[in-house]
Amino acid sequence: MTCILGIETSCDETSAAVLRPGTPDPLASLVILSQDVHRIFGGVVPELASREHLKSITAVVDQAVADAGISSDSLTGVTVTAGPGLVGALLVGVMYGKTMAYALDIPVLGVNHLEGHLFAPTLEFPDLKPPFVSLLVSGGHTMLLDVRDWGDYRLLGQTLDDAAGEAFDKVAKMLGLGYPGGPVIERIAAEGDPSRFSFPRPMLKDLKRPGPRRFAFSFSALKTSVLRAVRQSSDLDAVRDDLARGFQDAAIETLVEKTACAAKVLGYSQVTIGGGVACNTVLAQQMTDRLSGLATVTVASPKLNTDNAAMIAAAGAWRLARGECSGWDLEPSDRLPLCDMNPI
Ligand code: KG4
Ligand code: ZN
Repeated sequence: MTCILGIETSCDETSAAVLRPGTPDPLASLVILSQDVHRIFGGVVPELASREHLKSITAVVDQAVADAGISSDSLTGVTVTAGPGLVGALLVGVMYGKTMAYALDIPVLGVNHLEGHLFAPTLEFPDLKPPFVSLLVSGGHTMLLDVRDWGDYRLLGQTLDDAAGEAFDKVAKMLGLGYPGGPVIERIAAEGDPSRFSFPRPMLKDLKRPGPRRFAFSFSALKTSVLRAVRQSSDLDAVRDDLARGFQDAAIETLVEKTACAAKVLGYSQVTIGGGVACNTVLAQQMTDRLSGLATVTVASPKLNTDNAAMIAAAGAWRLARGECSGWDLEPSDRLPLCDMNPI
């Protein structure tokens, strides 16, 4: 029986999972250890991330294997995030995965982290099949993809500056809130007055014209507007929730409108959202409302949207089943091919 180990160490989560594709309940185990150390620095410190991965990788993998009720001898393949991500952090997972695969005499496969996010919903919605439009929104990326088939992706647009999650994190910092910023912004925005601040909806006017800017995103002007409003307010405590609400409404409207337009232009009836920002329930709800009657919106649950090894195992299992495999010279790389750029 196919039994795949997934390993994810691209940023500040040390994670391992065991996946048994083709069985009724394929996700046999998932362990995610979030590194707390970065909170005191207000962001991820790459060197500390590598050291934390090194400390915990053995325990995390052992736990995932034990939770699956197997011994490592039952594994038939190892899949590991090889990029994009922090190179020192990736190195820990890649070396560990290669060593395990070599010792067990089974194949190892380097997986593109973003393809992992793309596959995450399949763990809970096994009937999900391309074609669909996918909005991938994380701390490092904001991409709109035309998923023509598994393994056949066209990049419709991406951010020209900050990633969506990064914008949430930076605005949280401006408002004196902790890291990561997304969850806390979502929480306080729910209490905020939506009419108090109206921030610009970045690049929405570009939707009207075909071309490279049509499905591109930009969050720097929005961030600057929030910063200006923060500086102008004499009592931040009194307007913090309203500022969070104004920012979130602007960011989400842009993400929703661009995704909805892409689905319409391509004539697709399915949309997925993936990556850490997909944990935002307002984003998922607004996307669902906006596409009502046009397309279904599929979003995995939060533990599968933030960085985790189950999504890596899911993407990797699909590629291993096609006969793909990495060599023992596998290294972290930011240039794993994912998709061709082809604006519409
Ligand atoms: O995918 P992920 O776990 O890591 C990367 O690959 O970057 O995404 C992390 C990002 C962070 O920027 C975090 O603030 C954001 O996802 N995030 C959210 C929410 N939960 C996490 N953003 C908005 N609303 C949320 N509820
Ligand atoms: Zn991620």
